Amino acid sequence: MSQQHLTQLTSIVGATNVLVGNDTDSYTTDYRGVFRGKALAVVRPGSTGEVSAVVKYCCQNAIPVVPQGGNTSLLGGSVPDDKGDAVVLSLSRLNKIRAVDTLNATMVVDAGVTLHSARAAAEEAGALFPLRIGSEGSCQIGGNLSTNAGGTAVLRYGNMRDLVLGLEVVLPNGDIWHGLRGLRKDNAGYDLKHLFIGTEGTLGIITAAVLKLFPVPRSKCVALLGMESADAALESFGLLRQRLGPDVTAFELISSDAMTLVLGHLGREAAPLNTTHDWYVLVEMSSTAVQEDAEVSFLAALSDAAEKGLIADAAIAANEKQAADFWLIREEISDAQTRTRGSVRCDVSVPLSSIPKYIRETSAKVLDIAPQTRMVIYGHVGDGNVHFNPLRPADMSAEDYQAKHGDAITRVVDDAAMLMNGSISAEHGVGTAKRDELLHVRSNVELKMAWNVKRALDPANLMNPGKVLPDFTSVK
Ligand code: FAD
Ligand code: LAC
Ligand code: ZN
Repeated sequence: MSQQHLTQLTSIVGATNVLVGNDTDSYTTDYRGVFRGKALAVVRPGSTGEVSAVVKYCCQNAIPVVPQGGNTSLLGGSVPDDKGDAVVLSLSRLNKIRAVDTLNATMVVDAGVTLHSARAAAEEAGALFPLRIGSEGSCQIGGNLSTNAGGTAVLRYGNMRDLVLGLEVVLPNGDIWHGLRGLRKDNAGYDLKHLFIGTEGTLGIITAAVLKLFPVPRSKCVALLGMESADAALESFGLLRQRLGPDVTAFELISSDAMTLVLGHLGREAAPLNTTHDWYVLVEMSSTAVQEDAEVSFLAALSDAAEKGLIADAAIAANEKQAADFWLIREEISDAQTRTRGSVRCDVSVPLSSIPKYIRETSAKVLDIAPQTRMVIYGHVGDGNVHFNPLRPADMSAEDYQAKHGDAITRVVDDAAMLMNGSISAEHGVGTAKRDELLHVRSNVELKMAWNVKRALDPANLMNPGKVLPDFTSVK
């Protein structure tokens, strides 16, 4: 039976684009090597028409389909389960920039274009595509849309949902929805594109998108700050926003344990500051002002915060190279954790005003559970988003830490966020890892509504089954 499926799929995409056996390994294991599954085959269509034909065939033969972009997501959404009956549908060959319209400030791209290539294409056209995440070399626009990716420029430009005007989608029955509209005003009925954003491939396969472009800022200022508390960081943020308005493009918090971890990973002795601190902030301002004027405003705002005793130490990037170097420290934290193994990865958001209290109280609870834990805490606090990732003590194995403390830590971190009207998943989505947690944090009304949408589009539950939605029988 499976040979017949392979023959049919091969007739659609060609023999070199149907992978089986060991050739599927890098597609059935996620980027971090945490989630592993099996696939009937990996199929790599080269056009929207081929995606449609593959999905139609799978629908007619009750074959589950797992869409996959760069496979960098952190919660297992992009890999199949271990039944071995699913087709992984890789979008990597759909990698063309279809069109750039600088006057309309839009760009039409295939779903398999990497974020890095999309940003480069915008730059070549003299514009900015502002989504910025550490995985940009591998992650793809389709994956960014399906996870509603966030990252380090959300403060100024919003999440991926805010950066898209239209979509082309292959529906679970193989039909193609041609929704590549490049309009900023269009209220002619339901705005259906939002069904496919942040739903992790459970409702259809995005094959192309119309992305918004922005003017390239004329100037950029970056600083690494040392602070004595998270309260000081949040107060500084308020002050900088008041002084610089929306020009504050990024405001990233880093705990001292996160800094120590990443410096070790990068082989560096110290952060580029005079001394060590309990907390660090990476702040970026970008502006339409010329560089000299922007620097005057930036320095004046930072001096204000320093005079108020909020900033203990500061290094201002002298040039783009140094700015990139500061950013590397921030962006490598995730990979430093992956390499060290043994982090309990939580990705919460709470209202900004609650962040210091959240961090203080939750850290104490985690240390009660596992006293020698390294408190790797970092993230996009300007968005209210904290990557709260307690890391095993240096002398405990990742396996022991996870087995002994993983569940208890996740429980206190997530519960504390919910008690403060927050979210257990600020930007990384749900995948399989957080799927059942939704039973605790979403009402049955909301979960039933989600299942009703799922059933309307994918009645046979073949599109990325087992992801995002808790099993229907668990929903009362
Ligand atoms: P995949 O991992 O391939 O897929 C993600 C989900 O989308 C899966 O459920 C998959 O089935 C589905 N999918 C993929 N493509 C399609 C498609 N074309 N149509 C329908 N469904 C599809 N995330 C953030 O939000 N912010 C960050 O700052 C951030 N930083 C990161 C840093 C590192 C070092 C790493 C490894 C990851 C980071 N991530 C971050 C997580 C990840 O990179 C994002 O979730 C990214 O958007 C995933 O894109 P991808 O192409 O790799 O998608
Ligand atoms: C980051 C990823 C992990 O912010 O979201 O680095
Ligand atoms: Zn992040």
